[in-house]
Amino acid sequence: MHKLKITGGKRLIGEIKISGAKNSALPILAASLLSSKNITLTNVPQLKDISTMLTLLQSMGVEVIFDEKMRLILNAKEIKTFIAPYDLVKTMRASILVLGPLLSRFGEAEVSLPGGCAIGARPVNLHIEGLRAMGADIQVKNGYIMANAKKLYGADYYFPEISVTGTENIMMAAVFAEGKTVIGNAAKEPEISDLADFLRSMGAEIEGDGTDEIIVSGVKKLQESSHEVLPDRIETGTYLAAVAITGGRVLLKNTSSKFLESVIEKFKLAGADIQTGNDWISLDMHEKKLKAVNFETTPYPGFPTDMQAQFCALNTVADGEAEMRETIFENRFQHVVELHRMGANINIKGNTARSVGVPKLKAAPVMATDLRASAGLIIAALAADGETVIDRIYHIDRGYERIEEKLKQLGAIISRDSS
Ligand code: EPZ
Repeated sequence: MHKLKITGGKRLIGEIKISGAKNSALPILAASLLSSKNITLTNVPQLKDISTMLTLLQSMGVEVIFDEKMRLILNAKEIKTFIAPYDLVKTMRASILVLGPLLSRFGEAEVSLPGGCAIGARPVNLHIEGLRAMGADIQVKNGYIMANAKKLYGADYYFPEISVTGTENIMMAAVFAEGKTVIGNAAKEPEISDLADFLRSMGAEIEGDGTDEIIVSGVKKLQESSHEVLPDRIETGTYLAAVAITGGRVLLKNTSSKFLESVIEKFKLAGADIQTGNDWISLDMHEKKLKAVNFETTPYPGFPTDMQAQFCALNTVADGEAEMRETIFENRFQHVVELHRMGANINIKGNTARSVGVPKLKAAPVMATDLRASAGLIIAALAADGETVIDRIYHIDRGYERIEEKLKQLGAIISRDSS
């Protein structure tokens, strides 16, 4: 099992480039199933989840080529199977995103139920409900979603609970559906708009993305297209937190503050000096200690659940007390028990964690439980006294491209123990 070793206490200073957004690239890769023409993608992050999605697409017959300029070229002309098998889906829940495109273009899909993960049960009932509203016949048996639809019809579907990948699946399914689909209570994340931009570039007719009502008018076919994946706002926030906890300063390039307003507001409340440009963000703590900040995770444009563990880590050594409420997932505080091992003073009651800042954390052996929890532990380790060893870091490799390299560029003392 790979481990990361981090010796804390160094002030991080420097500049790094942000990669493309994992949660934008994944639905866009799945959307390549909709077209028989070449799709060319740039700024696709090199992550475990991306290679898992590419393996899944290739298993169905999608041609995948990386060209000499590291652009990703996909072609789904010859699809020979409509199955997303359990052994792939269990390693990456976002595989559920092939359901909508397969049904829309081929009228058939057999996708393993993703099952839960560390942060919650992660049901996909709303994806299924939305597709049934469009005329799909969907049975769930032996752990698989068996979906068939001679034709999908435009429908009005109102999400009883906001779902990011649920919105994406229905939007992709509606591309070839007959007539108009109105998605109510749609997710408004920037990754939804990035997917809509990509689909429109192929000829899909979509409007309202970024609002809570998305309207898709079915078309007959799509043409070839190229698209640059949006910068990763969660990677951006994660590195801002990594530098902030050490009292350092950083310039993040190839990113945008446009999609991080709620996070930047919290960094400013914590005492960070943040400047922004159209494709960069800088943070300078002027060697000051952070102030503790309260927050509550809510759907976009609120404070993102994917930044909760990172701010938990910040609050463990910040001045004062903080209240942190997780309203999206039912079990997303697993990093807290690991932070306790490092001397953090955080108590959980229901979906709320209360922290009291301590002067210093102590290095300890800890275990990553999920992608963003791992990021929280790395952030804590950067400020802890001594060498922290983080186990099960395959979680981190799913969502952060070349993390040691980027942190080393900022002066971090970090190494990977692959023994
Ligand atoms: C997406 O997951 C992201 N993943 C998650 O990022 C992110 O944390 C989450 O949205 C919330 O922002 C990708 O985009 C690949 P949801 P998703 O459907 O779509 C409930 C990361 O760290 N729900 O918006 O799976 C669900 O249980 C990952 O990069 C149903 O009940 O999340 C949750 O409580 C982690 N039934 C809430 O809705 C459904 O059919 C929001 O989930 C679907 C969802």
